[in-house]
Amino acid sequence: MEAKTANGQPPVLSINNLKTYFFTDLGVSRALNGVSFDVPYGRVMGLVGESGCGKSVTSLSVMRLVPKPGRIVEGSIIFNRGERTKDGYKVIESVEMTELEANGPKARSIRGAEMGMIFQEPMTSLNPSYTVGNQVAETIILHQDVNRREAMDRAVDIVGRVGLPNPADLVKRYPHELSGGMRQRAMVALALSCRPALLFADEPTTALDVTTEAQILDLMRELQGEMGMTIVFITHNLGVVAQMCDTVGVMYLGRIVEMADVETLFYDPKHPYTAALLRSIPHVGSTTKERLAPIRGVVPDPYATINGCPFHPRCDSFMPGVCDAAVPAETNIGDGHMVRCLLYSDKGEVEDNG
Ligand SMILES: Nc1ncnc2c1ncn2[C@@H]1O[C@H](COP(=O)(O)OP(=O)(O)OP(=O)(O)O)[C@@H](O)[C@H]1O
Ligand SMILES: [Mg+2]
Repeated sequence: MEAKTANGQPPVLSINNLKTYFFTDLGVSRALNGVSFDVPYGRVMGLVGESGCGKSVTSLSVMRLVPKPGRIVEGSIIFNRGERTKDGYKVIESVEMTELEANGPKARSIRGAEMGMIFQEPMTSLNPSYTVGNQVAETIILHQDVNRREAMDRAVDIVGRVGLPNPADLVKRYPHELSGGMRQRAMVALALSCRPALLFADEPTTALDVTTEAQILDLMRELQGEMGMTIVFITHNLGVVAQMCDTVGVMYLGRIVEMADVETLFYDPKHPYTAALLRSIPHVGSTTKERLAPIRGVVPDPYATINGCPFHPRCDSFMPGVCDAAVPAETNIGDGHMVRCLLYSDKGEVEDNG
């Protein structure tokens, strides 16, 4: 029997101690340095953190699309393939993604059919030589038992639902004929058209104006409920997190440093980094008079090694001799609230940086 999570549903995705490194001429960049989390079926988990902390590499690792010179060096990524049932999700097969050949038939059939991704950069997933309609219809045919005509009707439908104007005409256009925002919507349509069980949405609305953004988010929420989708939602925007996510993982330098349900994270953040992040970014409900406080210092060079807690050089609660001596362990402080900080536990490990 597989493990159940907080909402009583099995995890669709279960990541344990994942390490993905880039081996470059400048040295080894530890893009993911021991990432662990579960995403229960039907939930939306947010991943937040400053630029370069490893959000995109997390999703690329799960999809087995890490580009060279990157490589998964350690850890486990279990994708639970399954069926939606009337009470939730029934696991049929637990696939260890790290053991699959990245471009082999199994990884390819999982990507696109059961795992979808909305990339940060739309042009990387739209094929410039096919019309939008052909690309969406092709995905539908590949994964659902329908003929070409029906697939094209569905393509027009989904293209309309992401708010693209004149969908019947728009499906005949090529990606380069669309504006950046239109391309991003076309990509959302493409990702949703295969009705994946697990969707990674990497900054899916960043290039859009607020009105379109709100439309797309509403649509994703609606389809998420309707299709029973599990989503990992990557964003810089904490307002979007508040609107979209059930739980949130905060990343810093390749690790999840705090994880909690969305309300706890907003109202009772424990990690000094989370607290600083919340103070540094405008979010829903904040009054315009409130001052935003940038986080002190900069994200360190990914090639540098820092002894102890990676956040200690920037931390207002730094304890000399403690925080620079050991990497804090994951500590559960109640009800799905996890924090990695030596203020809450003296458990840590001395890292081998060799
Ligand atoms: N192709 C690559 N070659 C070398 N290093 C890389 C490559 N791709 C990512 N990295 C490194 O991995 C780390 C994590 O990058 P990632 O793209 O996951 O950040 P992110 O959290 O998605 O940031 P952003 O918010 O800017 O999108 C960074 O230090 C980055 O420099
Ligand atoms: Mg990114």
